[in-house]
Amino acid sequence: MRSLGFVVLLGLGYGFVSSVTPRHAWDKLILTHHWPQTFCGMEHCQSNLNYWTLHGLWPNSGIACNSSWNFNETEIEDLKTEMDKYWPDLKNPESTWFWKYEWHKHGTCAATSESLNSQHKYFSKALELYHKLDLDGMLKKSNIVPSEHYYSLDDIEKAIAGFTGATPKIQCAHSEKNQKLGQIEICFNRDFQLMDCEKSAEVLRYPAGVLTGFSVCDGKTPIYYPPLTEG
Ligand SMILES: *[C@@H]1O[C@H](CO)[C@@H](O)[C@H](O)[C@H]1NC(C)=O
Ligand SMILES: *[C@@H]1O[C@H](CO)[C@@H](O)[C@H](O)[C@H]1NC(C)=O
Repeated sequence: MRSLGFVVLLGLGYGFVSSVTPRHAWDKLILTHHWPQTFCGMEHCQSNLNYWTLHGLWPNSGIACNSSWNFNETEIEDLKTEMDKYWPDLKNPESTWFWKYEWHKHGTCAATSESLNSQHKYFSKALELYHKLDLDGMLKKSNIVPSEHYYSLDDIEKAIAGFTGATPKIQCAHSEKNQKLGQIEICFNRDFQLMDCEKSAEVLRYPAGVLTGFSVCDGKTPIYYPPLTEG
């Protein structure tokens, strides 16, 4: 009976989200970082970036909540230099497509919160959280650096949780050869306080939310953290 009730509730949840997205429907923000070398290995791009870049700031519920709210680059003109550096479109660095995509898909849903209800607020808050967090620094301080040395999922998780006090979600690109560290999500509540990420339940809420083929890293297999490749 219990599981049946759960399924029915889930079904209702979906209907709700896709028809009328209620205000305050989400209760968590996911700050997603990706590792350029792994991302580009999957997506066949070239990147000489040796730091974690932003993928997005995603409410845990709602996709493309307001299709009439167009991305407007002029509104974030003053953020452009930072966006280019820390939130680049790895596949097409000259383009603003990625920001437009993230705004449309996630930003318009985040915008139900007063602190994120403009494009400038949304993008600048993501940058602010990214800098405050300093994922790159956390990993380095824990001696987790891109190298030929492999790490355990536990090492990486503990290194991050040691700084944040919250469990991150760590995703890998899987191949027959190995699993490569690819994406790290850090979660916040609506007041931007750190909180635990869920490991798998989120997948249900992102039927089309995953841009690339990352999935949660396997805790039993060592993880490769690919260094910058020459040429
Ligand atoms: C959608 O965005 C437009 C343009 O910013 C705005 O006028 C409208 O109020 C928004 N609709 C909702 C439901 O938030
Ligand atoms: C984009 O934003 C700028 C600055 O806020 C504004 O002047 C302009 O009208 C906007 N463009 C569109 C197409 O909404």
